[in-house]
Amino acid sequence: MGTSNFTTLPLRVLVIMFLYYYAVVSSSSSSMKSISTDRSALVALKAQVEDDHLLATNWSTSSSSICYWIGVHCDSKHQRVTSLHLFAMNLSGTLPPHLGNLSFLASLDLGNNSFHGLLPIELANLRRLKSISLANNNFDGEIPSWFGSLTQLRYLSLDGNNFRGVIPLSWCSNLSKLESLYLSHNTLQGQIPASIENLSSLRFLYLVGNQLSGSIPSSIFNISSLVELYLSSNQLSGSIPFNPLNNMSSQLETIEFEFNDLSGHLPSDLFHGLPKLKQLALSKNQLSGRIPKSGI
Ligand SMILES: *[C@@H]1O[C@H](CO)[C@@H](O)[C@H](O)[C@H]1NC(C)=O
Ligand SMILES: *[C@@H]1O[C@H](CO)[C@@H](O)[C@H](O)[C@H]1NC(C)=O
Ligand SMILES: *[C@@H]1O[C@H](CO)[C@@H](O)[C@H](O)[C@H]1NC(C)=O
Ligand SMILES: *[C@@H]1O[C@H](CO)[C@@H](O)[C@H](O)[C@H]1NC(C)=O
Ligand SMILES: *[C@@H]1O[C@H](CO)[C@@H](O)[C@H](O)[C@H]1NC(C)=O
Ligand SMILES: *[C@@H]1O[C@H](CO)[C@@H](O)[C@H](O)[C@H]1NC(C)=O
Ligand SMILES: *[C@@H]1O[C@H](CO)[C@@H](O)[C@H](O)[C@H]1NC(C)=O
Repeated sequence: MGTSNFTTLPLRVLVIMFLYYYAVVSSSSSSMKSISTDRSALVALKAQVEDDHLLATNWSTSSSSICYWIGVHCDSKHQRVTSLHLFAMNLSGTLPPHLGNLSFLASLDLGNNSFHGLLPIELANLRRLKSISLANNNFDGEIPSWFGSLTQLRYLSLDGNNFRGVIPLSWCSNLSKLESLYLSHNTLQGQIPASIENLSSLRFLYLVGNQLSGSIPSSIFNISSLVELYLSSNQLSGSIPFNPLNNMSSQLETIEFEFNDLSGHLPSDLFHGLPKLKQLALSKNQLSGRIPKSGI
């Protein structure tokens, strides 16, 4: 009996220790794991930023929480990184794939820096992203179609980079919440896809200073939420598909189509169906006719 007591006691201790580990240690290590995953993602970014003083001093690995690092914001509930804003911090380097592990990220702003290279496809895992600005950097490569899997996106700015290729159809079919799309000053080519009308929440569309060609799809005027439409400085041709019979684009305030190869005769009822139009820029094209006085 003495020996059996001797063996059951440590067994009970073991069971208790196991339960304790299971209940306390493993659960805390799983929440540790999430914020520590975010930490490794940011450390990987810091390691790829070149000649930098700001992150090198501020993103101190001895600091207790990454939530106090400059540009980093966490939510109080999950203690995960929800925004990363490094706008105009003079940073250069490439982006590590680890950024795709910031699974609670809702807002990413790396604008006005000198980041370069390709965007890692792992960013397509950031399904909570609502806002991305990578404007005014030196990113290059094809314009990524995988942005189409970020179905919560409201704001996307890739202005002022070296992106090339066509505007991906996957965006048009999936980004129904997108309100702002800024793709100016890249080297985008091909036509503006007719299915752009499926960006049914779009308010601001800026495609200035690319190499877009073909005609302007009439479906663009079917986006009823559209407020500003900037297509200047491309190689767009054909006539302007103002459709006086549809009242769809009744929110439009600004239309800028300057410096293209647009041709044809301006209709005399140009402003019909555009009651809010304040600004119309059509110069440096092959257009004929006159801009009616009324309505502007
Ligand atoms: C990093 O910057 C933030 C925000 O400016 C500041 O509150 C924090 O004290 C800085 N941390 C270090 C270690 O410099
Ligand atoms: C940006 O970096 C360059 C070169 O490293 C430096 O000359 C310049 O002063 C920096 N600008 C700012 C605003 O920190
Ligand atoms: C995060 O992402 C990188 C690269 O995509 C991967 O190698 C790594 O294992 C991921 N997980 C963690 C916990 O850092
Ligand atoms: C950001 O970059 C754009 C384009 O180079 C420039 O016009 C703007 O002034 C910059 N903004 C800041 C705050 O640096
Ligand atoms: C559209 O979104 C769904 C759901 O997130 C995704 O499975 C699909 O791959 C996306 N399609 C494209 C073309 O990106
Ligand atoms: C997108 O628009 C085209 C017409 O331009 C339409 O035929 C197609 O069904 C639309 N797709 C989705 C997913 O709404
Ligand atoms: C625009 O919308 C109208 C009305 O819904 C529809 O009849 C027309 O086919 C659409 N035009 C294009 C080019 O999709």
